[in-house]
Amino acid sequence: MPVILAIESSCDETSAAVCADGNILSNFIANQTVHEKYGGVVPELASRAHMQHIIPVVDAALKQANCEIKDIDAIAFTQSPGLIGSLLVGGQFAKSLALALNKPLIAVHHMQAHVLANLIDDPKPSFPFLCLTVSGGHTQIVLCESPTNMKVIGETIDDAAGEAFDKSAKLLGLPYPGGPLIDKYAKEGNPERFKFPEPNIPDLNFSFSGLKTSILYFLQNAGKSNLYKEEFAATEEEKKEFIQNNLADICASIQHRIITILLNKLKRASLETGIVDICLAGGVSANSGLRKAFEEMGRKYHWNTFIPAFQYCTDNAGMIAITGYYKYLEGLFADLSVSSTARAEW
Ligand code: KG4
Ligand code: ZN
Repeated sequence: MPVILAIESSCDETSAAVCADGNILSNFIANQTVHEKYGGVVPELASRAHMQHIIPVVDAALKQANCEIKDIDAIAFTQSPGLIGSLLVGGQFAKSLALALNKPLIAVHHMQAHVLANLIDDPKPSFPFLCLTVSGGHTQIVLCESPTNMKVIGETIDDAAGEAFDKSAKLLGLPYPGGPLIDKYAKEGNPERFKFPEPNIPDLNFSFSGLKTSILYFLQNAGKSNLYKEEFAATEEEKKEFIQNNLADICASIQHRIITILLNKLKRASLETGIVDICLAGGVSANSGLRKAFEEMGRKYHWNTFIPAFQYCTDNAGMIAITGYYKYLEGLFADLSVSSTARAEW
């Protein structure tokens, strides 16, 4: 019954979790508020905040799990991908701990961990399953054959879905991260009111940059058109007034298009692979419209659908712990010379 301590520090959340025999006993997350006024994550500030948070966060996770450091059998950490300065803080901490305790070290791929967050709670998907991972940095469809064998079968060729939400929100003058605010306003709006284009991308890949451009022109034209034409251009005043008077419908229409782009590809992936156990993962799976549309599509196509609990959707060490657990069972340990990398192969 291995007890695993896991550490996640790939972006702007410092998190630690303890997992015993595949059960998550604690999942402690410290958010960083220092980035708010910059409208995005500032890497240097993120690394410094991880340095401040890491020891109290690990202590809190152990305490919450009613565990002492001597009870730990292995240490798992996010090796990649992410912000290199942030990854190094968690990585060095994990390596030092493994060395001091003389326990095995497990290096975890952050995106694989997002997928395996679906194995934390019951009911769990059966293998093979598909997972649509949607976050601020990634949009992927992953075919998962086993906890340690998965491959990306579709991904974005430009912006991620979370970026599409956040950049649209920024164009509307909403604060960062704007995804949750679009979700909130969309609840009151009409998703059919404004039409935004669906990109014509072959295979299972995604693109969101065209949508972003069409929203930019749409707002610059105060809703008269999605196309760039000088005669449509509105004044700043007209643009602001248009946004103010139509915010809910604009948010609902943008959200609707992002969701249809995502789910149409997921449907195609299911048809092409014949797989009907289908999961969501990543921070954008907190979006209420996406969750609802995903469940509806699941009912229509007789899928078994799975969405992790909210605390395991956004960046968290619980998902690193469960991935670490499966790697432990297969003896997939890392050497102390392992290094963190900003990008990673699957
Ligand atoms: O997975 P995550 O916590 O962090 C990484 O990017 O790794 O995802 C964060 C993203 C942000 O873009 C945020 O705006 C988006 O998830 N997000 C949402 C919602 N909650 C978080 N987007 C739309 N609706 C939401 N309710
Ligand atoms: Zn993430």
